[in-house]
Amino acid sequence: METTSMTDLRLNLGCGERHFEGYINVDKYGNPDVKHDLETFPWPWKDNSVIEILLIHVLEHLGQDSKIYLNIIKEMYRICQPGAKIRIVVPHHRHDFFFDDPTHVRVVTPMGLSLFSQRLNRKWIEEKAANSPLGLYLNVDFEVIETYYTPSSHWFTLHPESEVDVGFLLSESTYYNNLIEQIEMVLEVIK
Ligand SMILES: C[S@@+](CC[C@H](N)C(=O)[O-])C[C@H]1O[C@@H](n2cnc3c(N)ncnc32)[C@H](O)[C@@H]1O
Repeated sequence: METTSMTDLRLNLGCGERHFEGYINVDKYGNPDVKHDLETFPWPWKDNSVIEILLIHVLEHLGQDSKIYLNIIKEMYRICQPGAKIRIVVPHHRHDFFFDDPTHVRVVTPMGLSLFSQRLNRKWIEEKAANSPLGLYLNVDFEVIETYYTPSSHWFTLHPESEVDVGFLLSESTYYNNLIEQIEMVLEVIK
């Protein structure tokens, strides 16, 4: 049976006005439980103290300078326990919602997050693929274990059937804009 201790923290980073029960709600504005600018380091949590992180429409706002973005990834790795889960929700990079907000500074994709998987880094090195082996470079290791796509209202106008064919949605969205509204990804921390 899993036990919860004082160090099994759950963080809702960039919480805005949506404060969740059971989580430490963190933001640089407003009245969160912890007021912290996530682009300044170190973050105020101990090594291996966190079992879950939520970043709901937040990561695309962070780390315009890639050095800062990579530091954020390293801080998440440092504070998370082995097996911790990080749930990331972002607007799809080919939806107008991504472009509408001037504080969106970074595209976040499942492939972009897979660059932090040491398993894939080693595979790509063996295959002589050009993908940056960021997991090995930064000494972090995350696996993307779940990915969900939310179709937009435009998709349902074109395809009103209630069952969404995700393979078709993904292949169409490589050619056309505004078909997927948001992507949700879950990372598992490997230590
Ligand atoms: C689009 S809102 C999402 C808020 C909330 N997660 C939600 O789903 O309603 C983005 C949030 O990220 C916060 N944020 C942006 N940059 C930040 C930073 N450097 N440090 C901490 N919070 C930040 C903003 O203040 C804002 O509350």
